[in-house]
Amino acid sequence: MRKPLIAGNWKMFKTQAETRDTLRRLDELIGRLLEVEVLICPPFTSLPAARRAAAGTVIQIGAQNLHWEEKGAFTGEVSAAMLIDCGCSHVLVGHSERRQLFGEDDAGINRKLKKALSSQLVPILCVGESLQEREAERVEEVIEGQLQQGLKGLTAQEISRIIVAYEPVWAIGTGKTATPEIAQQVHAMIRGWFEGKYSSVAADGLRILYGGSVKPGNVSGLMAQPDIDGALVGGASLEAESFAALVSYQR
Ligand code: PGA
Repeated sequence: MRKPLIAGNWKMFKTQAETRDTLRRLDELIGRLLEVEVLICPPFTSLPAARRAAAGTVIQIGAQNLHWEEKGAFTGEVSAAMLIDCGCSHVLVGHSERRQLFGEDDAGINRKLKKALSSQLVPILCVGESLQEREAERVEEVIEGQLQQGLKGLTAQEISRIIVAYEPVWAIGTGKTATPEIAQQVHAMIRGWFEGKYSSVAADGLRILYGGSVKPGNVSGLMAQPDIDGALVGGASLEAESFAALVSYQR
């Protein structure tokens, strides 16, 4: 049984005070919710505030990025050990904004995944096609390429610890969500790829999140699909009320 995970990606939003206020309110709203895992990924500078506000709640804290080296002369970068020091359990790797706006490639994403895993962080590997790629009917090829390159050299044990997020680039921040059927089709393809490449145990255990304009109004239709195990939410995770509505989609 795969436990659903609803994760909020706050991107470049929220100061420390805003982080504290939002998480306190979120805790009041969701309380002891046990049937769903809840994760918030604030910006680096708000991680200490997030850790303090989330202490004793069900809210887990993750980061939006990491560097693959342990330490060194890498101006502007943040290491896995630094994230753990700030209370992170998870880290996003290869978000489409990192790929598109900051030139991240599959080789670097692979190194980041390995670093996250060897540091005991749970990586959430983001994959997804652009509108052009979808229109050219290249969805499967693009996503399989991202998985193949991103997961290169990982052991079966490491594979069992990762989470995948399918985020079609055309649905992120655009208000255009993939229909539950479109999302399910790609999720099933991803699970099938894991089964072929690794094993049915790896495929059955893999949690695949959907991301791209997930809102309280569309979450339950998405979550009803057999291969959708959670959501990675940007815009609708910024307000405690809407994020609380998302994590309570079953109620
Ligand atoms: P969105 O962002 O929910 O605002 O579309 C999703 C994401 O980028 O993870």
